[in-house]
Amino acid sequence: MHIFLTGASTGIGNAIARELDNHFKGAAFFSLSSRKKELLDDLAKTLKSKSAVYAADLSEPAVAEMTLERAVKEHGPIDILINNAGMQNIDHFTAIKNEDADKLFKLNYTTPARLMRKVLPSMAERNSGTIVNIASLGGITPTPYMAEYCASKAALASLAIALAGEYKDTALHFVTVYPGPVETPMSDYAGGRFEKDAISKVPFGTADGLAKEIRIAVEKKKHKVVYPAIYQTAEVFRDFSIWVTAKMAPKPR
Ligand SMILES: NC(=O)c1ccc[n+]([C@@H]2O[C@H](COP(=O)([O-])OP(=O)(O)OC[C@H]3O[C@@H](n4cnc5c(N)ncnc54)[C@H](OP(=O)(O)O)[C@@H]3O)[C@@H](O)[C@H]2O)c1
Repeated sequence: MHIFLTGASTGIGNAIARELDNHFKGAAFFSLSSRKKELLDDLAKTLKSKSAVYAADLSEPAVAEMTLERAVKEHGPIDILINNAGMQNIDHFTAIKNEDADKLFKLNYTTPARLMRKVLPSMAERNSGTIVNIASLGGITPTPYMAEYCASKAALASLAIALAGEYKDTALHFVTVYPGPVETPMSDYAGGRFEKDAISKVPFGTADGLAKEIRIAVEKKKHKVVYPAIYQTAEVFRDFSIWVTAKMAPKPR
């Protein structure tokens, strides 16, 4: 069971590795990728499963493709691809530099798309494989001052849903994940970027709680995870949720 996991160094990715390691009782093989090699090495040491660490800047799609190719060459075809690495820019749309916006879109959308294009032929040939894409609640309810982040996540979710349709006559399994606020370094960054205490008032989940829901979705072949569950209403009442978000959204500092 070869699992290729991006953004494994911290937060949700780190929790997914630990959750799946326990689930597969140490019998999986993890290819762990992100930029911070030391954190990936620390994680690798705590896993019961065997693993390999691939430190890389995945905001360069070509680098991400080469990283995955290397993992396949060294450890065999991918059974589970988890596109989790992501970044946020929080500011007025016009205050964000083009290069920062481009980097975000490459990491949050282009790299996951390229990695899927790489693994899908082999998965289709074997008629076996799971792809998990970590989108965001922001892909359902676009949030002011996180406009391109939300756009990148909506694009990723849209791609994943369409691909699930393309492969509907196969055994391939796609899971699209829409996290609401989850306590991680990314949400700490958001907390620091918005007006004081603004986001502490909304319901938060934990990385471990979300990782458990993702593991259940992989195991039970569910197609969607919205977490924490309270945010499932945002999808059902999308127009209302967009109205509330626009009205209540805090401003960046
Ligand atoms: N936390 C939330 O409230 C929330 C809500 C909705 C969606 N999400 C999504 O959940 C995913 C995980 O985020 P998180 O909350 O767990 O935040 P996090 O702890 O900051 O994790 C982000 C991960 O992405 C990796 N990463 C960032 N830039 C990278 C780059 N250029 N190249 C390679 N890896 C890179 C980071 O590793 P390195 O620093 O080692 O590179 C880290 O492992 C993201 O896609 C995020 O958009 C989070």
